[in-house]
Amino acid sequence: MSDLETLEQEILDAVRAAQDVRALDQVRVTALGKKGKVSALMRALGGMTPEERKTMGPIYNQLKDRVADAIAARRQEIEEAELDARLARERIDVTLPVRPEPVGSVHPVSQVTEEIIEIFAEMGFAVAEGPDIEDDWHNFTALNMGPEHPARQMHDTFYLAPDEAGGRKVLRTHTSPVQIRTMMAGKPPFKVIAPGRTYRSDSDATHTPMFHQVEALMVDETTHMGHLKGCIEEFCKAFFEVSEVRMRFRPSYFPFTEPSAEVDIACTFKGDEIVLGEGDDWMEIMGCGMVNPRVFENAGVDSTRYQGFAFGAGIDRLAMLKYGIPDLRQFFESDLRWLRHYGFAALDIPTLATRGVR
Ligand code: PHE
Repeated sequence: MSDLETLEQEILDAVRAAQDVRALDQVRVTALGKKGKVSALMRALGGMTPEERKTMGPIYNQLKDRVADAIAARRQEIEEAELDARLARERIDVTLPVRPEPVGSVHPVSQVTEEIIEIFAEMGFAVAEGPDIEDDWHNFTALNMGPEHPARQMHDTFYLAPDEAGGRKVLRTHTSPVQIRTMMAGKPPFKVIAPGRTYRSDSDATHTPMFHQVEALMVDETTHMGHLKGCIEEFCKAFFEVSEVRMRFRPSYFPFTEPSAEVDIACTFKGDEIVLGEGDDWMEIMGCGMVNPRVFENAGVDSTRYQGFAFGAGIDRLAMLKYGIPDLRQFFESDLRWLRHYGFAALDIPTLATRGVR
């Protein structure tokens, strides 16, 4: 075997022995690299006579080509083998369910808010909104609570820092300012509910600094207190999914309604549980009344022509009652165990409309 044949054999053996791309590259460098053995042969051509070069040139060139081809072929083999190995290793079963475990849940407040919106939508109420950061006028003054009105003290208000003019915005203490915004933005009749966040500096088992209310406002030329009672009763029956609901209207006072009442719903506390509709305990669920003519005047509605009712209910309380949740504070602690226990599956729970309640 000539030296040339021995060299070629050695190189081709090394190519075949290479098990991965890196080893193969090593072989390529020792053969075809700048200091490689084949490159050395090519350089030697330079020192040959023209005749010698004529015979040896093609031989060296062909050798070089064969080596390069062998390396390219081996590289392809190695790459294909690596891909096959990866495909075998990284098998996935596309028929598996996307998520074997449900990971998120709908918070009871969201669920109950949707239920409330749905029930009132069927009665013809639209949803209205207002800002959480409210000015003093909308939150108090326009609602017949002037700067010195004692009822302001009942609200444990969170005040923001004063602006240049000395005015202080507040975190709205109730959803009633949405009544004012609704009336100022349109013309009667009005028939809206306004669910949303409200804030008061208060914290115990049934109070949290941030809580949720839903306001209702119905205004036209004939609405009276009977409509108010009927509407609340219909709502309670649909919401609690019962044919009868024991409730009482207790005379009360709100500066923005006249007359005013508070609505309680019968319940029993059995240990940690609340049982609804029976027993001697009462749970206050809302304040209500006929819109005070002064409020109409403040909001630009003709009080000699229009009348209406309003109420404001605690959404969190309604959720506690309906779903037997004992402590309000836990609503906002983001404890995953609590959320899994009291939360609702996004897709599983049919809405009230599809359940055909009422
Ligand atoms: N805004 C009152 C509160 O938060 C509730 C209410 C609303 C009462 C509408 C009467 C009419 O206590």
